Amino acid sequence: MPKNAKKPQASPDLSVDIGPLKLKNPVLAASGVFGYGLELQGFCPPEALGAVITKGLSLTPWPGNPGPRIVESGFGLINAIGLENVGLDAFLENSLGPLKRAGAVVGANVLGRSPEDYVELTSRLAQSQVDFIELNVSCPNLRHPGGLSFGSDPKLLASITKDCVKAAGDKPIVTKLPPLVTDIVALAKIAEDNGATAVSLINSLPALSIDLDTRRANLAVGPGGLSGPPIKPLALRQVALCARALSIPVIGLGGIMDYRDALEFIVAGATAVQIGTGILVDPGLPIRLIGDVYHWLGENGLADLGQIRGSLKL
Ligand SMILES: Cc1cc2nc3c(=O)[nH]c(=O)nc-3n(C[C@H](O)[C@H](O)[C@H](O)COP(=O)(O)O)c2cc1C
Repeated sequence: MPKNAKKPQASPDLSVDIGPLKLKNPVLAASGVFGYGLELQGFCPPEALGAVITKGLSLTPWPGNPGPRIVESGFGLINAIGLENVGLDAFLENSLGPLKRAGAVVGANVLGRSPEDYVELTSRLAQSQVDFIELNVSCPNLRHPGGLSFGSDPKLLASITKDCVKAAGDKPIVTKLPPLVTDIVALAKIAEDNGATAVSLINSLPALSIDLDTRRANLAVGPGGLSGPPIKPLALRQVALCARALSIPVIGLGGIMDYRDALEFIVAGATAVQIGTGILVDPGLPIRLIGDVYHWLGENGLADLGQIRGSLKL
C-alpha cells in the first residue's frame, strides 16, 4: 500500500438520526416522485431506504391541474402537477399498512388550503403508523392559498409549525422550506423555534417554459416548479447556510443524481438527503446511491458520515 494511502474502512455505518428517528441510511425518496411508497417497489424496495415520503396528501382527494403538467427544460424538469393526490383516507387504507409490514420508515407529506387543514391532517396522522410528518409549506405551483404562500410568511410558518408540532404528539415534524426567499436562515430558525424536529430544503423553484412558435407556456397552467440538476447549486447554498445556523437536522435535496451529489449535501451539513427528479429518471437510483456512498466511505477510510458532515471549508 502507498505510504499516504487511506486505510480502507471495513464496514462503514450509514445510519443517521433525525431527532428520535433512527434511519438505516441517509437516502430518502422525496415527495411527489415515489407515489405513496409502494408503486416503485420492483425497482426500489421502500424498506431499503432511510425513509420514503409520500406524495403530498390533502384531507380529500385533489384532481390536480390539467395537462401537460411536466416538461423538460434544459437539464431539469418543470412540473405543475397541482398536488393531485388520493387524499388522506385512501393513503391510510391502502398504502400505509403494507409499507409498515414491509419495514419501511414512512413520512407523510401534507398540504392544505388553510392552516387548519395542516393541523387536521397532522392530528389524523398522529393516530396512524406513519413515522413522521413533512409539512409542505413550499409548493410553488398552487392556484389557491397554501404551499409557498404559507412557508414564506413568517407568521404563518410559525403558527402552522407550532400547531402541527402540538397536534403530532410524539411524531416528528419536518418543515419543508421554500427555496427562493430573502433570508432562508430566518425561516429555518422559525421552524426550529416552533418545535420542528428537522427542516427539509429545497422544494422546486418557481419557473416558466415557453413554446416560441405558439407563444404559449408549455404547461397548461403556465408556470410550474423547476427541479433536477439546475437547482443543485442553490440547494447546496441554502442547506449550508441553514446547517451552520440550526441545532436541528437539515435534510437536503435538489438535483441529486448520483452519490457524489448526495455527499456534497452532507459536506454542506445535511444529516440526510432526499432524491426527487433523479428517481423519475432512474427509479433504481436510490439503491445504487446507497451502495456507492457505502463504498466511498469505505475506500476513504471513513467510519460514518459524521466524519464529513458540515466539513465544508469556506
Ligand atoms: C413531479 C413532482 C412532484 C412533486 N410533488 C411534491 C409534493 O407533492 N410535495 C412536496 O413537498 N414536493 C413535491 N415535489 C418537490 C420534490 O419533492 C423536491 O423538493 C424537488 O423536486 C427538488 O428535488 P429534486 O431536484 O431532487 O427533484 C415534486 C417534484 C416533482 C418533480
